[in-house]
Amino acid sequence: MTIGICNDHAGVDYKNRLVAMLEKAGFKVVNFGTDSTVSVDYPVFAHALAEAVEKGEVDRGIALCGTGNGMAITLNKHQGVRAGLAWSSEVGRLVKAHNNANVLVLPARFISFRMAASIVRVWLSTPFEGGRHKRRIDMIPCK
Ligand code: RB5
Repeated sequence: MTIGICNDHAGVDYKNRLVAMLEKAGFKVVNFGTDSTVSVDYPVFAHALAEAVEKGEVDRGIALCGTGNGMAITLNKHQGVRAGLAWSSEVGRLVKAHNNANVLVLPARFISFRMAASIVRVWLSTPFEGGRHKRRIDMIPCK
């Protein structure tokens, strides 16, 4: 599986640590930046990741900013993206099981790295439950 990852200046440290974790686990990771802590505009990076998801260049995405909201709001403007914000392992499980999020958004300034890593692991290993959740997703709409 290929995972795209993007972040603003608030997420660069966790991004680097997540990339190392994912590559060690055997995932191919495509980094859409930013790679420095200099203040940047999160939509630039969110749009780049979203376009890669929509084109099928990556299978899933992970996005990080301070609260996660800027990334989530921007990503969800794209029809091929279902981005979900998670701040605990249980929300990470539910955002896949119920919402089938193809992009996971993390609030880097409000969770520990240990929690971020746990959320990523559970989101990657949880299957979508389908059923009533598919019906609801089909009503959004999103590709
Ligand atoms: C950057 O200061 C901060 O606004 C950004 O990381 C994010 O939280 C926006 O939603």
